[in-house]
Amino acid sequence: MSLRLRNPLNLLRSHAIALDVGSGRTRITNPLSEVLLDEPTVIAIEHGTGAVIATGTEAKSYLGKAPERIQVIRPIQAGVITDFDSAKALLRAFFKHIFPDDGSRLKVCAVVSHGVTELEKRTFADCCKAAGAGKVELVDTPLAAAVGAGLDIRQPKGRLVLGIGAGLAEASVLCLSDVVHSESAHIGAELFHEAVAQHLAARYKVAIGENMAEQATLHLAWMERPEELRRMTLTGKYSGSGTPCALELTDNDLEGALDVPLRALEELVRKTMDQTPAELVADIADTGLTLYGGGAQVHGLDSALGRRLGLRTRVAPEPAMVAVLGAAAALRPDLDFRKLLIK
Ligand SMILES: Nc1ncnc2c1ncn2[C@@H]1O[C@H](COP(=O)(O)OP(=O)(O)OP(=O)(O)O)[C@@H](O)[C@H]1O
Ligand SMILES: [Mg+2]
Repeated sequence: MSLRLRNPLNLLRSHAIALDVGSGRTRITNPLSEVLLDEPTVIAIEHGTGAVIATGTEAKSYLGKAPERIQVIRPIQAGVITDFDSAKALLRAFFKHIFPDDGSRLKVCAVVSHGVTELEKRTFADCCKAAGAGKVELVDTPLAAAVGAGLDIRQPKGRLVLGIGAGLAEASVLCLSDVVHSESAHIGAELFHEAVAQHLAARYKVAIGENMAEQATLHLAWMERPEELRRMTLTGKYSGSGTPCALELTDNDLEGALDVPLRALEELVRKTMDQTPAELVADIADTGLTLYGGGAQVHGLDSALGRRLGLRTRVAPEPAMVAVLGAAAALRPDLDFRKLLIK
């Protein structure tokens, strides 16, 4: 019997990657923290046949526009796989995109939300394997994010971090390379987008799509008023007549739009500190609050939240990347973060 190999050398090859599959975006780096992929966690498949039509940025551009024969799916919601087959197909396409020469062995270190169940973590690891990974290691997102943000979590000193992703906010107190307490809630950037859309619907009787609501949140929304006036053109339709509209808006038009999510974030952090031993809370008065995740970039979120909580608050540099960068650090034996991995 002859064994036909496409490229026998691939058998000897192995790639290690750090992976963060968020509800909004998927990010992959190599162990040296070089970004290999940063794409929306969205897949478009043909109804009935299940054939993959588009992934990532292209699939996301179909949101709200696809005809019935095309299903546009976001297979991860708030840190959990909600559609296993679509998540598998999407990860398979992403792995293939970064390493087209199939046959090589893929070792994955992936971040998972601290708050998800053991079964959900296992399902996620199984999904990575079904998509082509040979070996999968997991690390808690708050620990990975803190490492990626450059916090020294090995000391006997309490650190408070708050991640605001697309679907989930997770507030965690960390000490001695572990999560002491963590609380999560569905207060991600997508909730901000919905709040902005509802605010505009109530104020101007306009209906806008998901992508436009995200753009309005990025360019106009705020939790503390910006110094310079920002403007953008908002397109959608008038709710009553259905006719198209293009409105010239400034950030004044978004006043109060994010009050409810801001209060909910404050509540989440207070609840976390309430469940944390007093010694660690005393440390946090000194170490402050570090924000990570794309949603942390909403204008003025850090200062508004910091003022309400009475804590020095800063946004991590490259806040949406820190979790995957921490996973990349955990892949490297020379950096001594292997013990962060979930056993
Ligand atoms: N400058 C910005 N201002 C406001 N929001 C932003 C900004 N940049 C990105 N975002 C929002 O951040 C979200 C993505 O954040 P992130 O990539 O951390 O989420 P995720 O990891 O995909 O989701 P999750 O961690 O909840 O599973 C998007 O919804 C995006 O709209
Ligand atoms: Mg995330």
